[in-house]
Amino acid sequence: MTDFISLRNISKCYSAAGRSVFALKDLSLDIRENEFLAVVGRSGSGKTTLLRILASLEEPTAGEMRFRGKLCSPGNPLPSGMVFQDARLMPWLSALENIIFAFPPRERTAELHEAAKKMLETVGLSGCERSMPRELSGGMAQRVALGRALIKNPSVILLDEPLGALDYFTRRAMQRELIRIYLQEKKSFIMVTHDVGEALRMGTRVIVLGEGQMRKEINVDFSYPRPRSDPRFQRLIDEVLDAIGDGE
Ligand SMILES: Nc1ncnc2c1ncn2[C@@H]1O[C@H](COP(=O)(O)OP(=O)(O)O)[C@@H](O)[C@H]1O
Ligand SMILES: [Mg+2]
Repeated sequence: MTDFISLRNISKCYSAAGRSVFALKDLSLDIRENEFLAVVGRSGSGKTTLLRILASLEEPTAGEMRFRGKLCSPGNPLPSGMVFQDARLMPWLSALENIIFAFPPRERTAELHEAAKKMLETVGLSGCERSMPRELSGGMAQRVALGRALIKNPSVILLDEPLGALDYFTRRAMQRELIRIYLQEKKSFIMVTHDVGEALRMGTRVIVLGEGQMRKEINVDFSYPRPRSDPRFQRLIDEVLDAIGDGE
């Protein structure tokens, strides 16, 4: 039990073209304060649906979600910030303006500008206040997207394959950066990835979803950075791949 975020018996059924699909089936999960939860699973296993329910972008068909003991609903959503695979920046706004854009115009005070500037520092983009999205690399654009998610100081950051579109080296650098920011921000991070190595390098806990259900849960209790040469690392990779159903 936890009094942070709890999901109880969550099911989500989509109806499309006269067919029903259960994206999540009776899923129960407690999310701890300040954990880095990595969610892996095959395509279609319900990972995005889980994040969308946490973000209150989707209502579950059955089950309930609580935040610090209080029932969440469309009128009382979990305070969260979301990062997607593509940065989704407004192309006509600068990096700083994209971060401020999360707020309604009347709240865009000088103080907020100052906070946004600090946020750009946090995500490793000091000096890029005036840069336009077209001038930013993929990794830099994702840093802005993360800043936009963090600026409202939500309790949880939701990341849906945030590094999936980046090249290998940028991806590795961004993994380290995300861990640095996670350790600094002291929030819960929930990150979906289809990269098992990435999940185990970054997560303090890894869960495997399969057909909308939890197939496996692994606590990763060794500190960062986690070198690939560590035999524990390879063992956990095998365990996760087995749970996904990739064991040979
Ligand atoms: N808006 C939707 N309408 C109909 N079916 C959907 C919708 N969103 C997701 N699904 C279905 O729900 C299942 C889980 O999808 P999703 O949560 O996106 O999985 P993942 O992110 O793990 O790939 C899939 O079978 C998908 O086709
Ligand atoms: Mg998905």
